Amino acid sequence: MNQLADKKILIGVCGSIAAYKSATLARWFIKRGADVKIIMTTAAKDFITPLTLSTLTKHNVISDINEDDCWNSHVELGLWADLMLIAPLTATTLSKLASGNCDNMLTATYLSAKCPVWVAPAMDLDMWKHPATQRNIQTIQQDGVKIIFPSFGELASGLIGEGRLPEPEEIGEIISNSFSEKTDWLGKTVLITAGPTYEAIDPVRFIGNRSSGKMGIALSECLASKGAAVNLILGPTHLTPKNPLIKVIHVESAKEMFSKTKEICSHADVIILAAAVADFKPKHYTESKIKKSNANLNIELESTDDIAAYLGTNKRVNQILVGFALETDHELENAKKKLIAKNLDLIVLNSLRDAGAGFKYDTNKISIITKDNKELHFELKDKNEVAEDIVHSIESQLKL
Ligand code: CTP
Repeated sequence: MNQLADKKILIGVCGSIAAYKSATLARWFIKRGADVKIIMTTAAKDFITPLTLSTLTKHNVISDINEDDCWNSHVELGLWADLMLIAPLTATTLSKLASGNCDNMLTATYLSAKCPVWVAPAMDLDMWKHPATQRNIQTIQQDGVKIIFPSFGELASGLIGEGRLPEPEEIGEIISNSFSEKTDWLGKTVLITAGPTYEAIDPVRFIGNRSSGKMGIALSECLASKGAAVNLILGPTHLTPKNPLIKVIHVESAKEMFSKTKEICSHADVIILAAAVADFKPKHYTESKIKKSNANLNIELESTDDIAAYLGTNKRVNQILVGFALETDHELENAKKKLIAKNLDLIVLNSLRDAGAGFKYDTNKISIITKDNKELHFELKDKNEVAEDIVHSIESQLKL
C-alpha cells in the first residue's frame, strides 16, 4: 500500500544551498500521491525560485506573512498538513524554532502546526558542531520535533564533514515510513554508548580494545526504527549507523565519553551502555613520540571514570539503565554483581567462551538478567536479532 496516497505534506524551505534539493523532494512526494504545499523563507528564494516549486506542486508558494491568498494563513496551513517537514533547515531558522520566534510565515506556521513536525538541518560542519546549534537541536527535540540528522560528505564550502542534507530519496523514505511506523517508542529518548575507547599514551600510541561497536549500532538502528529519538555516543570505529534519524556523537577517550554522557543523560528515558570503556588510562600523556631507546618502558596507569556506576548513582526517576557484561569466567555470578553494584535495571551478558559471541563477530549469544532476578538465555543470533531481544526486555521494564 502506498503510505503517501492522499497525505498532505507541508514543506518549509530555508535559505541554504541545499534548497535546490527541495524540488526533487517535492516531486518525490507528489509522484507517490501526496498533496504538497511549500512555504519558503525570503532567503530561500535566492537559492530556488518560487515559480519552480509552485509549478511542481500546483499550489502557490507562500513566503510573505501578509500575502493575500485563500489558504495562506499560517493557522490554516498548520491545520491542513498531515505532516510538516522543514528541509533544509538553516541555523537561523533552527534558532527561531527553538526560541518560539515567529517573524515569518514558516516559523509562524511551525508554531501553529498540530501535525508531526520533522526537520532536516543542513549547514557547514562547524556551524553544525557549534554548542549553540546543538543546544537548539536538543530544545526542539524535547518539543517533539523529529530530526533527520545531516550526513557526512563534501559541503558547499569545500570542507568535508557532517552537515549535508541527505538525498531527497532518503528523506522521502523516512517520511513515508513514518506514516506506518510503529509508534511504541515515539516520544522516548534513548542514549547509547558503543564501541571502544582509546587512551592516548603519546601522539602515536594508545591503549584500546577490540570492540567494533556493532552491538550498540544494531541497538540504535532497532530503536530508531521503532520511533525513539536515539543519541549514540560512539567510540573510535570505522562503523556508523545508516539511519539518519540517529544522532551520532563521536568520542575517542573514556573521559570524552563520560563528559558527553553526563551532558545529555538527564534527558534520556533509557540508557544502554554497550561501550567497552577502557578501565585504565596512562597517568601521564607524553607530548612527543616515545623513542625505543627508552628500554624497559613502564607506563603508569590510573583508573578511568566508571560511566555506568555514575549513571546508576544519579539515575532519575523512571529512567531505565541497561549495562553489558563481557565475561570470561563465573559469567552469571559476575554479571549479577555488576547489575547490583552499578544499580542497573537490566544487564546483558555475553561470554567470550561462547563461539561466535563478542567483539569481532556479526553474531552474539546473550543472557539477560533483570533487577528482579529474571534470567533469559538466548541462542547464537545475528546482532540485529539480538538487538530486538534486548529491546523487548527493555519494553517490558518500561511497560510499553
Ligand atoms: N562501563 C562504563 N564505564 C566504565 C567501565 C564500564 O560505563 N569505565 C560499563 C560498560 O559499558 C558495561 C558495564 O559498565 O555496560 C560493565 O562493563 P565491564 O567492562 O564488563 O565491567 P567493569 O565494571 O569494567 O568490570 P571488570 O572490567 O572488572 O569486569
